[in-house]
Amino acid sequence: MVIIVVTATGAIFFIKGTTTASSDERTAIVLNAAERAYVLKEMRGLLEAIEAITLGISQDDMKAVSLASREVGMGATRSGNEPMTLIVKLPLEFKTLGMSVHRSFDELALEADTMRDGSIILGKLGAILNTCITCHASYKFVD
Ligand code: HEC
Repeated sequence: MVIIVVTATGAIFFIKGTTTASSDERTAIVLNAAERAYVLKEMRGLLEAIEAITLGISQDDMKAVSLASREVGMGATRSGNEPMTLIVKLPLEFKTLGMSVHRSFDELALEADTMRDGSIILGKLGAILNTCITCHASYKFVD
C-alpha cells in the first residue's frame, strides 16, 4: 500500500514537476542552484550549436553542420552527469519539448550527412527555433 502511494506520488511529480505561480504569464519551475546551473549550461550549448550550424551552412561545410548538430542530439541527454532530481522537478511537457529539440538536432545531422541541402537544413533549424521560443514563452526557473 505504502509503495503504491509513493509510486503514485512519484508519477504525479513526474507529470507536473515542481512548479509555482509566477509574476508573469509563464509557469515557474522551482530548481535549486545546481539544477538550474546544469540546465542553463545546456541551453547555452544549444545556442553555441546554432551558431556553428548557421556558420557551417553559410560556408557550405556540411561536416561542421553535422558535428555541431550531433553534439546537441539525443546523445547529449545521456551524459550521465545530470542531477537525477531534475527528472521529477521538470514538468512532463517541458521534458517532451526538450527531447523533441534533441531529436530534431539528430535529424538535422542526418540531413547534413545525406541530402546536404543548406536551404532545407535552414528551414528545419527554423522549426527547431520555434520550439525554443514556445518553451521560453511558457516556462522560467525560480529558486
Ligand atoms: C523545454 C523548454 C526549453 C526549450 C525547448 C529550450 N529552452 Fe532555453 N531556456 C528554458 C528556460 C526555462 C530558460 C530559463 C528562462 C528564465 O528562467 O527566465 C532557458 C534559458 C535559455 C538561455 C539562457 C541561458 C543562461 O545562461 O541564462 C539560452 C541561451 C537558451 N535558453 C537557449 C535555448 C535555445 C537556443 C533553444 C532551442 C534550440 C532552447 N533554449 C530551448 C527552456 C527551454
